[in-house]
Amino acid sequence: MSGIFPAAGTMDGNRPGNGDPEHGTTQCPSQPIDQATRLRELASAARRSATTVAITSGKGGVGKTNLAVNLAICLAEKGLRVALVDLDMGLANADLLMNLRTRYTLLHVISGQRTIEEVCTTGPAGIRFVAGASGFEQLANLTEFERQNLISWLQTLEDHTDIVVMDCGAGISRNVVSFAVAADRVVVVTTPQPTALTDAYAVVKVLHRESRAGWTGLFVNMAESKAEARAAYERLASVAERFLNYSIADSGYMLHDSAVEQAVRHRDPFVIRYANSNASACIAAMADDLARNVSGLSRRGSFFKRVVGLFA
Ligand SMILES: Nc1ncnc2c1ncn2[C@@H]1O[C@H](COP(=O)(O)OP(=O)(O)OP(=O)(O)O)[C@@H](O)[C@H]1O
Ligand SMILES: [Mg+2]
Repeated sequence: MSGIFPAAGTMDGNRPGNGDPEHGTTQCPSQPIDQATRLRELASAARRSATTVAITSGKGGVGKTNLAVNLAICLAEKGLRVALVDLDMGLANADLLMNLRTRYTLLHVISGQRTIEEVCTTGPAGIRFVAGASGFEQLANLTEFERQNLISWLQTLEDHTDIVVMDCGAGISRNVVSFAVAADRVVVVTTPQPTALTDAYAVVKVLHRESRAGWTGLFVNMAESKAEARAAYERLASVAERFLNYSIADSGYMLHDSAVEQAVRHRDPFVIRYANSNASACIAAMADDLARNVSGLSRRGSFFKRVVGLFA
């Protein structure tokens, strides 16, 4: 490990817990209807707008899109109304993981050719999905006008939604940072590898520099064990605490699991195809944690209005 990350620190673990999926066979269960109704009531009672969860990373290929897609489905299976937006402006591919053929993408919205409703498709478990577009430089370098236009369309998603999950892509571009800074929750995905952790820390530094005050968590993917994931979390969290005075929550972890790779090959979300897998149990634990906290999250007004504010 590089010098950026000293030995595991003394983080006190006062973070939202995620259960212990290693010792159970938790799946993404279809909750009894009364529990689903209760969750939705909780969500709308406290909500002025949807809870927004931005998923990002420093290094690419660490599992953001898999997390975003499967988490969104898991939350929908709990009875929450979920929208998944592929905001990865460079390498949008959430549609592939769900085998969804989408005729229109965010690009059509940005160029004014389609409305957001025309672009929205229904995905597994009834999630509403807004596809991104790959390989368009225009998306990676939005003009101020295009960004405003996109944001005002996305704002309409909040009306009928409890949680908006955004796959924001990797890195620290202006687009990624703007969406992340404004979200209720930012989940920074990493693997336990030193390079990935170092890049994750770079993202945390940018969030800190942007004075992001909301909840920021670290999700450790492709860990060999829960202990390895926890050690990686503690390493990064202790450095952020010590050098930036910035709190990073434990947002959960996912074990390295061949079920993920196989599901990707079949273009089928693993929480559906391999509902009993270790990976599914890990996602279920994270979804449980998020659903429990959903009522307390959205007290900051419209997410997309906050994004507009960042560019004012
Ligand atoms: N827990 C896991 N166990 C095994 N393989 C995994 C796991 N998570 C992800 N992978 C593998 O890593 C690949 C990359 O995952 P994914 O596309 O979700 O990453 P990403 O962070 O979205 O990448 P990008 O930065 O390119 O958008 C997947 O195709 C899958 O094969
Ligand atoms: Mg991705």
